[in-house]
Amino acid sequence: MSEELRGRSAIVTGGARGIGLVIATELTRLGAKVVIVDSGVTIGGASESPDLALRVAASLPGAVGLAGDIADEAVAQSAVRLAQEQFGAVDILVNNAAIIRDGFVFKANLEAWDAVIRTNLSGAFRLIAAATPAMRDQVKAGRAPGAIVNLVSTAAIYGNFGQAAYAAAKGGLIALTRVAAHDLARSGITSNAVIPFGATRVTESIQPANEAQAAYKAKALEVSPVYVAQLVSFLVSAAAAHINGQLIGARGRELFLFSQARPVMTQRVPVGGLDIAAMAAAMKGFETHFTDLVTDLEVFSADPVL
Ligand SMILES: NC(=O)c1ccc[n+]([C@@H]2O[C@H](COP(=O)([O-])OP(=O)(O)OC[C@H]3O[C@@H](n4cnc5c(N)ncnc54)[C@H](O)[C@@H]3O)[C@@H](O)[C@H]2O)c1
Repeated sequence: MSEELRGRSAIVTGGARGIGLVIATELTRLGAKVVIVDSGVTIGGASESPDLALRVAASLPGAVGLAGDIADEAVAQSAVRLAQEQFGAVDILVNNAAIIRDGFVFKANLEAWDAVIRTNLSGAFRLIAAATPAMRDQVKAGRAPGAIVNLVSTAAIYGNFGQAAYAAAKGGLIALTRVAAHDLARSGITSNAVIPFGATRVTESIQPANEAQAAYKAKALEVSPVYVAQLVSFLVSAAAAHINGQLIGARGRELFLFSQARPVMTQRVPVGGLDIAAMAAAMKGFETHFTDLVTDLEVFSADPVL
């Protein structure tokens, strides 16, 4: 049996269900010990089964559970302490927990915005803040450097109807991934972002608004998240020690390396700038390189490779 992660200690947020559980299971299969932190909430973040993390961890050898909200700083610190006490260190952090509360921007719900940013972005930051001092100290003490993987979404890159808070949080998490990659590079600790595709309760909950969406949902429900878990496991293994600050997707048996925004064209404006008419003329040069206003639905409309 391949046990490349034997001796490694991991924290997986939202690890009691969906993609997080598949990741936690794959990490333990590869020999890692895992702290599953999960608050057992609905897709929208309402309390549902608060002891889920404890129940799930009890039936997964190599895992311990922590029931709690990752956006609560005390819970984030408890997760790190638990990993240290039970498994002797904290090497791997997988920020996977997230909630969704959609609504068009012109019907803004500030409470929904705050809740989504709190879990999906601030929660990940809490864990990074709690875990990385220990991760750096471990390296100084001679332990092999660890790794962070943040689960993000195509919504952050393409945008999606009604997903202001979710897409903004995931976009923020991509930026946080890059900053952590820079900040931790000297310690050899990596930070990468993964865009997952996989059938979970979230996929099941999609309410198709038209035939194209219904077809997309049917295809999405066939995609196993196990390939996402394999990608995450690779990124936290010694084999990926040189991969840092990257954005990689997994959809069934397809892996995607995503580009990250860089200038694609440059123009110089004269001293004193351009008036609107001249700016319009200058923009013509850019227009062939403009980014299409499409959502992931159009971009990933081809059949998944199962
Ligand atoms: N399913 C997909 O195809 C897909 C696509 C794009 C991105 N993602 C991302 O992948 C990750 C997993 O998605 P999923 O479909 O498995 O979701 P899910 O809703 O099935 O599972 C999320 C888990 O996170 C937990 N959680 C939520 N808020 C929490 C909090 N504050 N503290 C602790 N635990 C919390 C929930 O209780 C749940 O067990 C998420 O980050 C999601 O945004 C999933």
